[in-house]
Formats: sequence, C-alpha cells, structure tokens
Amino acid sequence: LFAGRTEFVKGVVAMSGLPAADRMEVCFAGRSNVGKSTLINALTGHKALARTSNTPGRTQEINYFTLQDSHYLVDLPGYGFAKAPVAVVAQWQRLLKAYLSGRPTLRRAFVLIDGRHGIKAVDEEILSLLDTAAVPFQVVLTKADKVKAADREKILDQVRARLQPHPAAFPELVVTSSETGAGIETLRAIVAGLD
Ligand code: GTP
Ligand code: MG
Repeated sequence: LFAGRTEFVKGVVAMSGLPAADRMEVCFAGRSNVGKSTLINALTGHKALARTSNTPGRTQEINYFTLQDSHYLVDLPGYGFAKAPVAVVAQWQRLLKAYLSGRPTLRRAFVLIDGRHGIKAVDEEILSLLDTAAVPFQVVLTKADKVKAADREKILDQVRARLQPHPAAFPELVVTSSETGAGIETLRAIVAGLD
C-alpha cells in the first residue's frame, strides 16, 4: 500500500469541502507540534508531502492525501495551541470536532501524543469526543528519540492508565520516531491491515 503512489488531494477548511466519502480513511490528530505532518511524511516516504514546522499551528486545514486511490490519510490541524488568534483557534476546533464526529468513512483515528509528555488534559477532550462518536482510536507516541530511557516506562504506564476509561481506545500503543524510523513499519502495517 505504501509503496504505491501518494498524492496531496486538497486542503479543506469546512465540512462542505471534504472529498466524497468513497474510500476508507485514517486521520492523525494531536496537539500542535506533536509531529502529525512529520509522521505522514515518514509513513509515505516523502520528505515534504505534508508541510511541517518548528512553529506550532503549521497545519491550519484538514489536508487529504491519497494512498493508491484506495485510502485517504488525513492530516489534521493541531489543538491546544494558545498563540493563534482566539477566533482562528475556535474555527479550527469547530472543524476538527465536526470532522472527528461526522465522517462515516473514518476507520481509525491515530491520536499522537508526545512521548516525552504523555496524555494531557487537552488530549482528554479529544479522546472523549472520539468515544462519543464511536470512532476507534489508537495512540501513537511520537519523538521517541527524545525520550530519556529512564522516563520511557513511566510515560507508557501513564498513557495506558489514562486510556483505560476510554471504550473507543485500542490498548496497543505505537511508539514512533520520525527521526530514527522506529515504529513506522508497524504503523504502516496497521493502516494496511484495516478493512
Ligand atoms: P501542527 O501542524 O502545528 O499541528 O504540528 P504537527 O503536529 O504537524 O507537527 P510537525 O510535524 O510540523 O512537527 C513539529 C516539529 O517536531 C518539527 O520541528 C519536527 O521536525 C519535529 N518532529 C516531529 N516528529 C519528530 C520526531 O519523531 N523526532 C524529533 N526529534 N522531532 C520530531
Ligand atoms: Mg501539521
């Protein structure tokens, strides 16, 4: 699946702009700067398919990418970013929530969590929304290359404990680094195995 053609389809700013729901899709959600766009590039083997940045708030639209005409990969705007103008943040959040709870072909949401920080209050809001919408979600820990060995197990335990009350959560965590490539093959296999 990932060896084939990958292309940018469109950036969407309103639910009315979503492409036809004619194939399965997976999305990448998470706090601003957690590494969503970078992970999409790592998965697809492109350097700059999805635009990335050191500045949180880079992705401001819902960006659609196609994998071999059979799947969409969806890069979402980040949440929990306080520096953008209030009205702009409110608009992204509305769109994000409408998307996460209103897309019938959304097969799985990958919720990215910074491997150094674990699940925060602002993440919980999204996890609850996914529970309510009955969208199966799976946590992907990012930036594993930056996690100190001594903190690794502690963070994994925190994340597992926080996921316990969420019925829509997959218990299996995926630990990734777009820097070293750790976990990328695993995540590809998960996406390719969805049916
Ligand atoms: P928004 O679009 O603003 O919501 O951010 P995003 O979640 O798409 O983050 P993005 O992919 O733009 O990455 C943010 C920063 O984190 C960039 O400087 C990336 O290079 C860096 N980054 C992402 N993944 C990793 C990783 O696995 N390891 C390290 N060391 N840095 C990473
Ligand atoms: Mg982004």
